[in-house]
Amino acid sequence: MEIIIQPDERAGYQFAARIVAALVRDRPDAVLGLVTGRTAVPLYQEVIRIHRDQRLTFASVRTFNLDEYVGLPHGHPASYHAFMKTHLFEAIDIKPTNTHIPNGMADDIARECREYEQQIRDCGGIDLQILGIGADGHIGFNEPSSSLGSRTRIKTLTDGTRRDNAHAFEQFEDVPRHAITMGVGTIMDARSCLVLAFGMGKADPVAKAVEGPVTAMVPASVLQFHPDVKVILDPDSAALLARKDYYAKVFREKPSWQQY
Ligand code: GLP
Repeated sequence: MEIIIQPDERAGYQFAARIVAALVRDRPDAVLGLVTGRTAVPLYQEVIRIHRDQRLTFASVRTFNLDEYVGLPHGHPASYHAFMKTHLFEAIDIKPTNTHIPNGMADDIARECREYEQQIRDCGGIDLQILGIGADGHIGFNEPSSSLGSRTRIKTLTDGTRRDNAHAFEQFEDVPRHAITMGVGTIMDARSCLVLAFGMGKADPVAKAVEGPVTAMVPASVLQFHPDVKVILDPDSAALLARKDYYAKVFREKPSWQQY
């Protein structure tokens, strides 16, 4: 894992957006794995800014979102379909047919999950998976105790996760109890991963994911087995890392050919 501690959140989002932009510039038909949640919003704002200011085109980019609530109509403002339209898709030149989000309204959820996996394979796999991290260490909606080899499937959300996401709903009771999520194994198949976590609220799951033992009780910890993961942090989210001085030194002392 490459732990990159930026001076503040804003610098972290800019750094992450530059990584996304560099990939799309290099590979115009890149397959991006996309994330939702509060952390995603400033990242997408920065990506949109680069699209406008530097004429970065997404016309051939394909995308797969990590997850979606089950039983929430796509037009519902808290659905991830609506989130992606509002915060990214409508502001860039991506083709709607190139974007994929699990269909939580499908009659046959198991079949929807199988087909989602197939669509990812048909696109040649995900080049860069963007990830946030839940307070309990979840990635996508893979709650603690998720199989580390799991594929796209339905998951029951913990009440903690439902509370953390309740801000997007009128009341807690409205937060769906189930979601379709890429599995931990699906995420691990991505060729590279970019994890974003900012603020004190993320310090505990970040420390467990980066320095704790690999365990299904902290699904993000499995990323320790992935050969190409960048974790972008600010001083607050890095606060509980025992080796943070070392990570800063690694970043400072990178050989010139490895620098960003
Ligand atoms: C949800 C999403 C995750 C996301 C997490 C953190 O649970 N399914 O993919 O990483 O929220 O969200 P936030 O960025 O709002 O803290």
